Amino acid sequence: MARLDGKVAVITGAASGFGEGMAKRFAEEGAKVVVADLNSAGAQRVAGEIGDAAVAIAADVSLKADVEEMISTATDRFGRLDILVNNAGYTHRNGSMTEVDEQTFDLITAVNMKAIYFAALAAIPIMEAQGGGCIITTASTAGLRPRPGLTWYNASKGWVITATKSMAVELAPKKIRVNCLCPVAGETGMLGLFMGEDTPEKRAQFRASIPLGRLSTPLDIANAALWLASDEAEFITGVALEVDGGRCI
Ligand SMILES: NC(=O)c1ccc[n+]([C@@H]2O[C@H](COP(=O)([O-])OP(=O)(O)OC[C@H]3O[C@@H](n4cnc5c(N)ncnc54)[C@H](O)[C@@H]3O)[C@@H](O)[C@H]2O)c1
Repeated sequence: MARLDGKVAVITGAASGFGEGMAKRFAEEGAKVVVADLNSAGAQRVAGEIGDAAVAIAADVSLKADVEEMISTATDRFGRLDILVNNAGYTHRNGSMTEVDEQTFDLITAVNMKAIYFAALAAIPIMEAQGGGCIITTASTAGLRPRPGLTWYNASKGWVITATKSMAVELAPKKIRVNCLCPVAGETGMLGLFMGEDTPEKRAQFRASIPLGRLSTPLDIANAALWLASDEAEFITGVALEVDGGRCI
């Protein structure tokens, strides 16, 4: 039996990077997946590559109506909602905190923070009615061990970790588990923004700070998410799981 047989997942930011990795890995393990992303063409591509077990939806997670539609896509199309992964993210480019303009700051808080609130409002009543569920958020090592140059992004991920723990304790009586992933720098579309510029020297510098000696991959993050989403983790809630090759030690 596959590890997510019978489960339905909504994954945001699933048109690329970690979210794409999760969507594909979850489907391999038997889940039905709603591939949600602002990038409609990317979401269609990922859902198409998965096949009948997936449906794509264009959704801006910072908009309440889009999030509501995204969640009801799971119930309309697949009849239930077991797993919600709040993975879409946004950052300013690595640089001085005083040079981040207000519009960028607002977008970081809307995509990284407010989206989790909107998704909670839409998903929790469904999970409660079903007798339980699982929510995963993608935070970051940036929220545990902030480094210079990404201050407002780091702070938003710190918020994600605290929100995860608070949601976990409040939702435990409803049998809804809430956990977050804290990936270290990974080879995705956001890497250039995190490093400031994507050069071999910068990559070597990042790798040198990771004891296991490499950046993270979408498969690393997907495998950790898969375990958290599966019944193997039924007693795990409120954790901020580093998937970081030892970076935070
Ligand atoms: N790559 C890293 O180094 C790293 C490290 C730690 C945490 N993270 C986090 O991982 C998550 C996934 O990012 P990734 O690294 O896979 O990058 P990515 O750029 O490959 O994926 C991010 C996805 O989010 C989507 N997105 C952005 N804004 C959106 C919105 N408003 N509504 C819906 N979708 C939106 C993008 O279209 C994109 O497909 C993010 O939360 C990011 O902060 C990334």
